[in-house]
Amino acid sequence: MEGNIKLTYQDKSYEFPLVKGSQDEYGIDIKQLRAKTGLITLDPGYKNTGSCQSDITFLDGEKGILRYRGYDIEDLAQNASFIEVAYLLIFGEMPSAQILKDLESKIHDDSYVDEDLKSILKSFPKSAHPMGVLASLTSGLIAFNPSSVDVNSEDEMFEAIVLLLAKFPILCAWTHRKVKGLPLNYANTSLNYIENVAHMMFKKPHQEYTPNPIVINALNKLLILHADHEQNCSTSTVRIVGSSHAGLFASISAGISALWGPLHGGANQAVIEMLEAIKIDGGDTAKYMEKAKDKNDPFRLMGFGHRVYKNFDPRARIIKKAADEVLNDLGIKDPVLDIAKNLEEQALSDPYFIERKLYPNVDFYSGIIYRAMGIPTEMFTVMFALGRLPGWIAQWREMRLLNEPIGRPRQIYTGATSRKIDK
Ligand code: ACO
Repeated sequence: MEGNIKLTYQDKSYEFPLVKGSQDEYGIDIKQLRAKTGLITLDPGYKNTGSCQSDITFLDGEKGILRYRGYDIEDLAQNASFIEVAYLLIFGEMPSAQILKDLESKIHDDSYVDEDLKSILKSFPKSAHPMGVLASLTSGLIAFNPSSVDVNSEDEMFEAIVLLLAKFPILCAWTHRKVKGLPLNYANTSLNYIENVAHMMFKKPHQEYTPNPIVINALNKLLILHADHEQNCSTSTVRIVGSSHAGLFASISAGISALWGPLHGGANQAVIEMLEAIKIDGGDTAKYMEKAKDKNDPFRLMGFGHRVYKNFDPRARIIKKAADEVLNDLGIKDPVLDIAKNLEEQALSDPYFIERKLYPNVDFYSGIIYRAMGIPTEMFTVMFALGRLPGWIAQWREMRLLNEPIGRPRQIYTGATSRKIDK
């Protein structure tokens, strides 16, 4: 299929080019729509609007496919480290062994933040939501690293990106340590990226920290699975803020705020809150299964179903295995996790869920793993942000290199027409 799309309006006929993606996705290029016809399109929520052409991530919700730069998510989760995936997303190719070594060494070099950042963190009450703290600390990084990036200089771009990859996990870990009342710490250069995330989050001041390989493997997979999901709300935010030529850190800080919302990054938190509510109510999972199926009851099983993935969520398949390993290895006895297992078993064999293709989604299992690791519920979205960082950076970089125009949607005005003050 190629050619133009015809539009007839007020007895005139107009043609608009058909655009084809590399996976045979089609769209109508309406860049000239207003100039030619005086019309605009109306699409709240942008469900039918492509905001850009992108080489980064492909997803097919019907077939359950998610690929970064052409690589299946299953392949990446099984065979790559988070930092390799970060490089792939941002720069387009898997890093060679030498590039990876250099990248890790540069990240180690940059793994500190200005000590004055601690006073910003200190001024937040302990009760502050970690996502608000993280967005503020990320904005704070700009003050301590003020030089603007020449996006046409590969070296400057690389420096800024490495700087952020190195410093962001420190900010995430510190928001956790603030919640837990633990002293602030830094990375250990003998550990890799993910081990350092765990080290910075969990190390107690009076004990050595030895990373548990099963926990590290699960964390590596979880962060890879969350690393990009094409033009979702926070990523679109990063691109649109960056399109005003706001800097990388400012754009990422805006993305963190977008991710904070319960409709976006907060779903895994909602899963644990639901499980806790079921526990308080006596732990009767059969009762909640019935509630979920009752059309007169607004209750839904959180962590089941997906707007885009209609057959299965490829990320959930991968992470279920990791969740089982973590729970078995850590030998945790937690009634909330028992409730999760019961619900999963019942839903997977219940005709209501089978017919509607409602399977546990990635947020169901990620909430369970984070809880088993001892991460507080309000920190879950911070972990999502940590995973999504490479995706945000990749999308910001792509948008700047394509020299995209400033994002500025239009509207159909529905307010009062011209009137005068009547005194
Ligand atoms: N529990 C019970 N029934 C459900 C659930 C659920 N979690 N999800 C969907 N259904 C039912 C609906 O009632 C509907 O039934 P019907 O056909 O008899 O009317 C049918 O399944 C189809 O549901 P829709 O609402 O049309 O599916 P939609 O694609 O609009 O919703 C969504 C997807 C929002 C994810 C939904 O499944 C849901 O609310 N899930 C729980 C919340 C959740 O886990 N969100 C996180 C998703 S992952 C992410 O966004 C990062």
